[in-house]
Amino acid sequence: MGPNGTGKSTLSETIMRNPRYHITEGDILLNDESIINMPVDERARKGLFLAMQYPAEVPGVTNAEFLRAAINARRPKNNLISIMDFLKELDKNLDLLDMNETMTERYLNEGCSGGEKKRNEILQMLMIKPSFGILDEIDSGLDIDALQIV
Ligand SMILES: Nc1ncnc2c1ncn2[C@@H]1O[C@H](COP(=O)(O)OP(=O)(O)OP(=O)(O)O)[C@@H](O)[C@H]1O
Ligand SMILES: [Mg+2]
Repeated sequence: MGPNGTGKSTLSETIMRNPRYHITEGDILLNDESIINMPVDERARKGLFLAMQYPAEVPGVTNAEFLRAAINARRPKNNLISIMDFLKELDKNLDLLDMNETMTERYLNEGCSGGEKKRNEILQMLMIKPSFGILDEIDSGLDIDALQIV
């Protein structure tokens, strides 16, 4: 959170590696390791997570499919999360965020309200369990109850 136009989104997207931004000097260390040459998926696998100010809509991919793929991308191929464990974890976090479970079968963020998208970002964070999370203006669009929960 902070004043408009001061570079919050620029900084967070640069750390996550939005190709729009080119780093001219300096380095980015995650647990003492330089991540500056890593593509975005590798950064995510290393435990970096960005809750975007304006989350993208991805028609054709359901929330549940997306979450499971993201979780499994961080696990070894011979130790993927079981459907049971996944659903248990999902239910718990939907409860926590006071989200309707029909949300998980909807396409990722498609047609969602601003506040629903923000809750979805937090749901992703809870499910993926990153080691370092950046929440870019996570408060914007949330109603008073959601803000409290987040
Ligand atoms: N690709 C770009 N090229 C040129 N200027 C840019 C680019 N991206 C961002 N900026 C500028 O950098 C400044 C910081 O923008 P940024 O979006 O990071 O701010 P912010 O702190 O996230 O603002 P807000 O609170 O409105 O979300 C702004 O003046 C913006 O116009
Ligand atoms: Mg911003």
